[in-house]
Amino acid sequence: MNDLAREEVTMPTAEHSEADAETGPETGINTAGTAVTRAVVRGAGHYLPERVVPNAEFAARLDTSDEWIVSRSGIERRHFAAPGESTSHMAIKAAEMALGNAGISPDSLDAIIVATSTPDLTFPSVATMVQAGLGMTRGFAFDIQAVCAGFVYALAQAQALIVAGSARRVMVIGAETFSRILDWEDRTTCVLFGDGAGAVILEAQPGGGTTGDRGILSSDLNADGRQRDILYVDGGVATTGHAGCLRMQGKEVFRHAVEKLAATARNALDRAGLAPGDIDWVVPHQANLRIIRATAQKLGVPMERMVTTVADHGNTSAASIPLALSVAVSRGQIRPGDLLLLEAIGGGLAWGAVVLRW
Ligand code: UT7
Repeated sequence: MNDLAREEVTMPTAEHSEADAETGPETGINTAGTAVTRAVVRGAGHYLPERVVPNAEFAARLDTSDEWIVSRSGIERRHFAAPGESTSHMAIKAAEMALGNAGISPDSLDAIIVATSTPDLTFPSVATMVQAGLGMTRGFAFDIQAVCAGFVYALAQAQALIVAGSARRVMVIGAETFSRILDWEDRTTCVLFGDGAGAVILEAQPGGGTTGDRGILSSDLNADGRQRDILYVDGGVATTGHAGCLRMQGKEVFRHAVEKLAATARNALDRAGLAPGDIDWVVPHQANLRIIRATAQKLGVPMERMVTTVADHGNTSAASIPLALSVAVSRGQIRPGDLLLLEAIGGGLAWGAVVLRW
């Protein structure tokens, strides 16, 4: 860690560790309000490829229509990466914007975690490519693969690293090039996805141990591998030797999503000692506007408090939440001190939620 970073954050003390041990590292909440280490957002950024593809482009060559796509999913357009543009390229652009917004240098980061299911190569990780691309010469870097829940999983892991004292500043990125794993003849899937990247920088900061603290307040992670056949990619290194194409039983995934997203959101809020009425913004995974509406209704949160970008981005899997976050910050919707609930579900099935104060 460089001197700048050392000056800006307080090193964890024995007192912090004790407080964390009493309450469990997952929430960091304690009723006594004892000092704890929080993973606080220092900056955010995003990147969308230049090419915008409206629904009409699909309607021109497939048995589909703008009306069907909008009414069933809320998607109006999506961005697709240019030939030669890959997940690491987009991740680097999002990371550079986050660093610029935070006003910090790449070498003040201790770690980079990239959530992706569409890496440039089987290995090395996209995270190491981002590290090199940023000119970062220290720290550690790795990818997380939890499909659409990847960013939520990655945030929880970054928080764990920070609370444990293993890292003080962590760049968490969600980046995807789903256009490379779509079957362009399958109208039930190819109209739904897009490409892009989003990034946030988390930093260790001392908190008072109350729900008023900035930073991650709680998380809830889940998986059920018995449901792996309802959303998967039909290829891979150890089977076909090719990347494969995305396959989805949409109706089944929809059913699980509506039920499980509300449940994980409630679990995360309970752990933080908060209720849906406390939330300023829900930043949901952007798969389908109907799922976002149903989740809002189940939680009793008005649609005005749901951040939605699905109309413009489509489903960008692990990139969808950090993209929506960064866009909402740019729009002036999310402000410092706002209480956010992030939630996502996808292939695995894997799902989860994070409660954080911006
Ligand atoms: O990010 C990971 C998580 N993924 C999700 O959360 C996606 C969850 N699922 C969904 O969002 C929705 O299920 C879809 C948007 C995928 C589909 O909406 P739906 O209301 O569940 O439609 P459906 O699958 O029941 O299909 C209704 C009809 C079918 O025709 P029949 O059998 O009723 O004659 C489909 O063949 O719509 C047909 N259809 C289409 N028609 C025009 C399916 N895709 C299309 C299409 N254009 N692109």
